[in-house]
Amino acid sequence: MITLGIESTAHTLGIAILKDNRVLCNLRDMYVTEAGGIHPTEAALHHKAIKYSLLNRALDETSLRVEDIDIIAFSNAPGLAPCLLEGMNLARELNEKHKIPLVPVNHCIAHLEITKLVTKAKDPVLLYASGANTQIIAYEGKKYRIFGETLDTGIGNFLDKFARDLGFGFPGGPKIYELSLKSQNFIELPYVVKGMDVSFSGIYTNLKNKIGKYPKEDLAYSCQETVFAMLIETAERAMAHTDKKELALGGGVACNSRLQEMARIMCKERGAKCFIPENQYLVDNAAMIGYLGSRMYKKKKNYVIDINPSERTDDVEVFW
Ligand code: ATP
Ligand code: FE2
Repeated sequence: MITLGIESTAHTLGIAILKDNRVLCNLRDMYVTEAGGIHPTEAALHHKAIKYSLLNRALDETSLRVEDIDIIAFSNAPGLAPCLLEGMNLARELNEKHKIPLVPVNHCIAHLEITKLVTKAKDPVLLYASGANTQIIAYEGKKYRIFGETLDTGIGNFLDKFARDLGFGFPGGPKIYELSLKSQNFIELPYVVKGMDVSFSGIYTNLKNKIGKYPKEDLAYSCQETVFAMLIETAERAMAHTDKKELALGGGVACNSRLQEMARIMCKERGAKCFIPENQYLVDNAAMIGYLGSRMYKKKKNYVIDINPSERTDDVEVFW
C-alpha cells in the first residue's frame, strides 16, 4: 500500500510517501523568521505557496505518480487552525481529483507511533517535548494517557520566546542550545513541578527580568538545566508509577543533545532503556502521519473529514 502523508499542524509543511511501513521519502519545509515568532496566517501562506512543489518533489524522488497513491493521511489535530486547513485542503483536492481515500490523523499520537516504529520500543513512556506540547504519555486502558503535562505553554514555545527576547528569530531552541555550550555557570531559577505537571511561565518572567544583568550564555545554560531537569523528573516518576522499563523521546525539543544526555543518564540509573529516534522523526514530519494513517486505514475505512485544532491525546480511541 502506498500512503501519502501530509503534515501541516504548525510551522512545517511535510510531505512523505510510504510503501507499507517503509518511508520512501520524508520531505519538510519550515516557515522560519529572522526575528519574532510564528504567525499562524503567515505560516499557512507558506504552506499554500509550496504545497505543489513539495508534493512534486516527493513524487519525483520516489518515481511515483499521484495515481499510484492508495491513501492520503493528513494531520487534522491538534494545531493552528489556518495551518491545519491548508493541509486538509491539499488532501481534499487530491481526493476529489483522484478519488483517493482520506484518513485524518492526530499529530501527537503520530509522534508516539513513529517513535515506536523506528526505535522498536515496545511499551514506552513517551516524553513528548515540542513547540506547542509538553506531555508525558503512556499507553493504558486502550488509550494513550497523559500522566503529566505543561500547565501553560509548551517547552519549545517557551524556549522560542526566551530566544526572541535575546534577539533571535524562530526557531529559538537551537540558538539557546548553542549559547548554553559556552557556559557552565548555573544561576538559580524557579523550578516548577506541581505533582506530575510542569509550568514555564514563571521561569520565563524570571529569565526575562535577568536579561542584561547576566551573560546570555549563563542564562541559556541555566534555563536548559532547569527546565530539562523538570521534564526528566516527571518522566521518571511516570515510569515508576506505570512500572514501564522504556523511555522514548519525541518532539522537536528532543533534538537537544543535553536533554538526550539527561534522559540517557536517568534511564541508566534505573536500569531502563532509552529510545531516541533520529532528528527527522523527532521534529514535525509527514512520515509519522502517513505511518499512523495507514495503520488506521487497515482497521477503519470511513472518517469524518474535518480539522480539530484542540483535540487531546487522550480524546483518541486507539483502535488500530
Ligand atoms: P507540536 O505541534 O508537536 O507541538 P511543533 O509544531 O512545535 O510540535 P516540532 O518540530 O516538534 O514542532 O518542534 C519545534 C520546536 O522544537 C521549536 O520550539 C524549536 O525551537 C524546538 N527545537 C528544535 N531543535 C531544538 C534543539 N536542538 N533544542 C531545543 N529546542 C529545539
Ligand atoms: Fe509536532
